[in-house]
Amino acid sequence: MSYEKNIYLVGFMGAGKSTVGRALADKTGKIFKDLDDIIEERENKKIVDIFEEKGEEYFRRLESEVIEEVSKSKNYVVATGGGAIVNPTNFQKLKESGVLISLAASPEAIYERVKDSKDRPLLNVENPIEEIKRMMFERAYYYIKSDHIIETTDRSIEEIVEEILELI
Ligand code: S3P
Repeated sequence: MSYEKNIYLVGFMGAGKSTVGRALADKTGKIFKDLDDIIEERENKKIVDIFEEKGEEYFRRLESEVIEEVSKSKNYVVATGGGAIVNPTNFQKLKESGVLISLAASPEAIYERVKDSKDRPLLNVENPIEEIKRMMFERAYYYIKSDHIIETTDRSIEEIVEEILELI
């Protein structure tokens, strides 16, 4: 494929960014990077522990640093964390260095995908479905600024990857 810029997958937690990203990288021969994995490796801690021990602000600083680095490279497929593009500087860096694909899903589908995991500190709350709806509403403004939005509810990874390949 001739598209050399990075492909950034953005969207809410549980939207399928990492799973789709891996499949897309396989298909395109690009290198897959997951921002949260890079952060966990660097800190030698799980995201949930970084939030608990050092706080969200510390995590967001790391996230911005990693975005800055990744945006200087080419030919990556990058799964971003669900809150990454809320920061305008992050958004700008991603936008300039690649195409932004937003993966969307209904709050109910998101809940089904994340409910058995405690790995998402922002959803370890009493009423996660309400929190998903609240945060989704708050972040919709950022996600819709992506170059493309792809619905993932009730769709296979293969279908989603094919749609992305048609778009870029
Ligand atoms: C976050 C999403 C998470 C992770 C962190 C914060 C968010 O990534 O970066 O827990 O603010 O939405 P995923 O979207 O990969 O779950």
